[in-house]
Amino acid sequence: MIQKSEPVSEDPEGIDDPEGTYDVTQPEPSALIESLRAFGYSLETAIADLVDNSIAAKAKNVWIRFEWKGSDSYISLKDDGEGMTESSIISAMRPGSQSPLKERSLKDLGRFGLGLKTASFSQCRRLTVVSKVNNGEIVKRCWDLDYVKIKKEWRLLKLIEPEPLTVINDTISVQGTIVIWEKMDRVSGNHRADDEKAYKRFLEGAEKVKQHLEMVFHRFLDYPNSLKIWINGRMITSWDPFMKSERATQELPVEKLLCDGKNLVITPYVLPHQSKVSTESHKIGSGPRGWNAQQGFYVYRNERLLVGGDWLSLGFQKEEHYKLARIQVDLPNSMDGEWQIDVKKSRAKIPGYLKSDFKRIAVLTRNNAVDIYRHRGKVVSRKHAQDFVFMWEQKTRHGKFFYSINREHPLVQQAYKNGVKIDLDALFSILEESIPVSHILVTNVGEPDKFSTPFENAPPEILQSVLLSSFSALLNTGVEEGEAKRRLLAMDPFSLFPDVVEVCLNEFLKDKK
Ligand SMILES: Nc1ncnc2c1ncn2[C@@H]1O[C@H](COP(=O)(O)OP(=O)(O)O)[C@@H](O)[C@H]1O
Ligand SMILES: [Mg+2]
Repeated sequence: MIQKSEPVSEDPEGIDDPEGTYDVTQPEPSALIESLRAFGYSLETAIADLVDNSIAAKAKNVWIRFEWKGSDSYISLKDDGEGMTESSIISAMRPGSQSPLKERSLKDLGRFGLGLKTASFSQCRRLTVVSKVNNGEIVKRCWDLDYVKIKKEWRLLKLIEPEPLTVINDTISVQGTIVIWEKMDRVSGNHRADDEKAYKRFLEGAEKVKQHLEMVFHRFLDYPNSLKIWINGRMITSWDPFMKSERATQELPVEKLLCDGKNLVITPYVLPHQSKVSTESHKIGSGPRGWNAQQGFYVYRNERLLVGGDWLSLGFQKEEHYKLARIQVDLPNSMDGEWQIDVKKSRAKIPGYLKSDFKRIAVLTRNNAVDIYRHRGKVVSRKHAQDFVFMWEQKTRHGKFFYSINREHPLVQQAYKNGVKIDLDALFSILEESIPVSHILVTNVGEPDKFSTPFENAPPEILQSVLLSSFSALLNTGVEEGEAKRRLLAMDPFSLFPDVVEVCLNEFLKDKK
């Protein structure tokens, strides 16, 4: 009878099959190594996966070092999280340490029990992990893939020869974990330490990592006293894709969609027109991949960014005039299955039944973004024709849209001057506060043709009467007739009816004479 080494509870029958009814085939190390190395991580997504582990271990600080020594270069990541005991470090190093089906704590950023290994092996052939829990001993383990290949067995090294330099130089005083990547064939290659070009590429890689982490973990970096990440001694800052600190950023109505019994939350943003922010701020807003590429959905899982700027296969192209549209999507980690989150945490797929909602929200945000993008044109033409007057002004308050009546409008000015007996300001405030904005937005997306244009199908006398009142109001402000007519032709909504304006005003003037 074979002695079972695994917990009996995992075998529902509790009895083993008789000998001779099966073969034990361990995965061939050299073959498995290559597949573990081929998950398609980039340097920055691989390091982000290590940071996930540090956050899951409640680290407050993550120190990353890029050390250039040609082919002996290394990258290390140290955190002050809870650390691991000897038994947990061994299971952490096992490829597939936890089943993806196991329910994770709400804050856990892990999933497949693979990240530490797959992320590391995608970049290096020697992974050392050193760890210490509070009041515990320092524990170390190392995977050396060349050694595994030679021995044809998954031998996890306890005795690490030679010890990575950081282990000698760096210590864990209270608690924490250090992950060290050596033999980085895919990062530093086989170059000599004095190879300037290779060194430059290494530094560029470090810069990319910095930008990626600033984006992926921006919400963690933003919370006071939560997480600090240091790269070669310098603290990185957060990159907020939504430029929320800019007053001109617009937040559209938040929507909650039901997915897998829980809510996911969508917050669309339209970023400010270039003319509304400083040059520096506009430059920062462009993000790691530039303005055009950064448009689209930003999918977060437990506040950690998975996909930054993507229209998620909804059939939209990334076009210049939509570049100000960025939409935040918040998922809890319990939706991983529905969203097909992959090991690298760099892919998310909208479940089929949510696609139409996502499309609707994307269209709404994109339409608003185009308006802002084109606003520059409007401002310029208004400068040339200073008389272009709108009755309603779209404004933002704390990042939210509202509409107000333009007090400078000639008709409004006239009413003030005539000393109307009602409190005009109170009236306007009520008008402004009660605009059915959400109705307008929803209708615009669902049935955009349902909106009538100004005075569409209205009796002509109404348009004529409003036109003549406006004309008189302008004349009363001292504007001469020809100029007043010109202004009306440029004024909303009369600009839509140039023929009516011509005929009606000519008749009016003729009668007057
Ligand atoms: N920096 C760290 N601090 C403490 N524990 C860690 C750290 N990195 C990894 N671990 C442990 O190793 C396990 C395996 O990590 P990983 O391979 O990334 O898979 P996952 O994150 O999906 O669980 C984690 O669940 C955690 O228990
Ligand atoms: Mg992980």
